[in-house]
Amino acid sequence: MNTLPWGTNQNLTDEEFYNRKWELDNIKTFLNTTANGNAPKILLTGIRGVGKTVFLKKIKRELNKDYLVLYLDFSKSECYQKKSLTINGLMEYFFKQLLIEAKNKNLNTLDKKIEKYFKSDNFKIRDFIQVDKFVLPVFGSETDSEKLVNFVLELPDKIYNENSNKIKGVIIFIDEFQIIKELDDYMDSFLWRLRIHIQNQKNVAYLFSGSMGLQDNLISEIASRDGVFGGRMLTFHIDPFEKDTVKSYLNEKAPYLVLSDKGFERFYHCTSGIPAYVNIFASLLPQNVELTEEIVIKNFDEKISAIISHLINLWSKLTYREQSIFISLLDAPLKRIEIADQLNVSTGSLSKNLNNLQKHGLIKFESEKYQISEPILARWLQLEFKNKGTFPYRF
Ligand SMILES: Nc1ncnc2c1ncn2[C@@H]1O[C@H](COP(=O)(O)OP(=O)(O)OP(=O)(O)O)[C@@H](O)[C@H]1O
Ligand SMILES: [Mg+2]
Repeated sequence: MNTLPWGTNQNLTDEEFYNRKWELDNIKTFLNTTANGNAPKILLTGIRGVGKTVFLKKIKRELNKDYLVLYLDFSKSECYQKKSLTINGLMEYFFKQLLIEAKNKNLNTLDKKIEKYFKSDNFKIRDFIQVDKFVLPVFGSETDSEKLVNFVLELPDKIYNENSNKIKGVIIFIDEFQIIKELDDYMDSFLWRLRIHIQNQKNVAYLFSGSMGLQDNLISEIASRDGVFGGRMLTFHIDPFEKDTVKSYLNEKAPYLVLSDKGFERFYHCTSGIPAYVNIFASLLPQNVELTEEIVIKNFDEKISAIISHLINLWSKLTYREQSIFISLLDAPLKRIEIADQLNVSTGSLSKNLNNLQKHGLIKFESEKYQISEPILARWLQLEFKNKGTFPYRF
């Protein structure tokens, strides 16, 4: 019987959720200051698959009793799904989820006041739709964006004030926050407006999270001293599991895997301790037979496309030029001019492609050079080349 969660499961049970005790205690201590009117603003970072989302959902479960906890995943907003990300679209998603969460908790959601507000401020309401058991307004596309942002971002505080006898505060998690990079020119103004509204809300905590490497520009734009929050944002980073953690995890949850010492070393090396890969790879290994280093390598190479299907999917959506840049970096990090030489193009023409690769966390810029930040994708490409004699540009 296989008891490991699959690597794309975002809703782990308490049984499935392993470890992270220190991180949980730490974050909860900060979030609990919300009850004293000291609501923190937090940035939670960590690479793809490390477990940010399942971590947030776990905290939500634990704090639900005392607070109104809202978990938003910006990438699930309708406007993002329909490939037309806008500030209004994000605010509409925020608004809907907030009302649904609050109503499910039987809080007073100021419906009468909201209705009045809509009328007086002349929002363009396009429609009313039924979500779960509630009827909610849908804003018309011509709704003034500034008014909408003001209204939506002040609402959590208002809901708190109306219900302060029932909850100790409001805690808002915004996951996949990095997609706001796609707002392009509007991103900066959005961040500033966000800050103006939320920084003085004493009973509304915010936690932003998403796949952001430590080098990500968005992090410095938000959390650094010269960033939007002027160094007043707390930052937490979630690391992959340490070797010892993976070892005890497998012993406990997958005792049918019989890894030799070297086999385990190789397993750890292949997965880099990233829980998503640990779970997928462990689920695909033969059970109740000794797994030597050779067997682990063989299985990894055979099963790598299942382990990283999400990355292969991302790869297939890159342009030919972007794929070529990534391939040029397989052997070693390169300067921009060196990439341009290899591709036989001008350095200037690379900007958009390099940005896009960085935006997806596939490469990073460090010490004047570009380098690959998804080694497992690099491994897959090398294997494809070895087996098929050519790199997979399209398939
Ligand atoms: N504490 C944990 N215990 C057991 N499995 C975990 C744990 N954390 C993460 N995982 C595994 O890793 C997978 C990925 O976790 P999650 O989706 O939370 O990562 P993420 O950091 O949000 O990734 P992304 O940046 O792609 O959104 C989960 O589906 C689960 O299989
Ligand atoms: Mg996630």
